[in-house]
Amino acid sequence: MQKVFVMDHPLIQHKLTFLRDISTGTKSFRELVSEIATLMCYEATRDLPLVNVQTETPMQITTTKVISGRKLAFVPILRAGLGMVDGMLNLVPSAKVGHIGLYRDHDTLKPIEYYNKLPPDIEEREVIVLDPMLATGGSAIDAIDIVKKSNPKNIKFLCIIAAPEGIEALHKKHPDIHIYCAAVDEKLNENGYIMPGLGDAGDRIFGTK
Ligand code: PRP
Ligand code: URA
Repeated sequence: MQKVFVMDHPLIQHKLTFLRDISTGTKSFRELVSEIATLMCYEATRDLPLVNVQTETPMQITTTKVISGRKLAFVPILRAGLGMVDGMLNLVPSAKVGHIGLYRDHDTLKPIEYYNKLPPDIEEREVIVLDPMLATGGSAIDAIDIVKKSNPKNIKFLCIIAAPEGIEALHKKHPDIHIYCAAVDEKLNENGYIMPGLGDAGDRIFGTK
């Protein structure tokens, strides 16, 4: 059963305020997306399985824990998901990174796929799909469709702002996928933008508007 985890940690909420602010420029926006991704990664990896190992400290041999198995793959949805990758890799530098290229058609709001490259050993990994924005849910649904075909151990969806409409749509199509976000906003406007949101995440990260 799908769960929605809203990360209300004060550091995340504080940074999210500056991310939303219209006066935040490209450099700061990019840094904030990365910092928020690091903080969210900490919470989203809370349930990774651990195994015991024997470790020799300078004092004695003792039993300690490490994360078991082949671990993680991060899959950003291009373009805006790219802004979250470095922040995630700060905490899990050994993770593999796949890419899925999707853009929303401006008229239909339907996602168009233009790129897809996933790690070959994805079956042995837990996947976290990354995109700052869950709006209508179309992009997340298609990206998860693509990832599911490669049969990973588990998939989570990590975004910064989610619209209620996107959560509902993702839940309908992929009820097994947990959603991690920093905020659930009010609604979508008539152009499919999240209100109050932060505007166009890709444009603000890459300075294309
Ligand atoms: C944005 C965003 C998501 C998508 C969300 O990308 O980064 O991928 O819209 O909208 P949805 O939930 O309605 O599908 P966009 O299509 O603008 O592409 P870009 O990142 O390349 O600008
Ligand atoms: N994509 C964005 O970047 N922002 C929105 O508000 C909706 C979709």
